[in-house]
Amino acid sequence: MSWVSVVLLACLAVCVGAAAEVRDTLREQPPYPVWPDRFHAVSQQKRGEDLGIVDLYYDWPRGGNLNLIRQADGPIFDMEWGNGTSYVYTPATQKCKVVKFGVGLLPPDWLHGAQYLGRETVGLFECHKWQKGDSDAPGVPFVVYWDAVAEDAAQAQRRPVQWRFFDGMQFNVVYFTPHEAVPESVWQTPAYCFEQGEGEGGGRAEAAR
Ligand SMILES: *[C@@H]1O[C@H](CO)[C@@H](O)[C@H](O)[C@H]1NC(C)=O
Repeated sequence: MSWVSVVLLACLAVCVGAAAEVRDTLREQPPYPVWPDRFHAVSQQKRGEDLGIVDLYYDWPRGGNLNLIRQADGPIFDMEWGNGTSYVYTPATQKCKVVKFGVGLLPPDWLHGAQYLGRETVGLFECHKWQKGDSDAPGVPFVVYWDAVAEDAAQAQRRPVQWRFFDGMQFNVVYFTPHEAVPESVWQTPAYCFEQGEGEGGGRAEAAR
């Protein structure tokens, strides 16, 4: 056997092996996670050493999502609407901030086209790991997302377990209740958000200046 054929055979072995690996990964890739139209998720929020509890109510038909951030001196409501306007208010102090973040509401299939990174165990859950989007930091994706491996592979809606943003903010989902709607009153933006128009420190805070 000439050295040329030895090199060719070696290459063949490596190339065929690599192709088989790619094929296996593709075969293993589950369907993209799809959120239910409505859900309630209770998460532990972690940013550095700061811990919090956040209730997320997601309601696609209504076009909004509400983050209820629980802290010692009363909850903060962060109401995000599909038109890109957020109202962040604290009933305890009746302060409200109107924020324009311009992204709008994530659709239930926002993870479509995410890159699949294989399986990983997170806490008690065997998970599929995904990443999506880019951030300003080179090589850091916008979000990394873990969802529990479904018993039934065809099941399109699976339980989210954890997600982490490029800035280190991380959410561990403790409870996840699909299709839970919140009482109508919770969606009402309080009047003090509209008292002094929009802008940073609107409402009472603006009036105090
Ligand atoms: C955005 O939508 C919400 C809910 O429908 C509404 O209360 C708010 O006024 C809208 N804001 C703008 C700037 O259109």
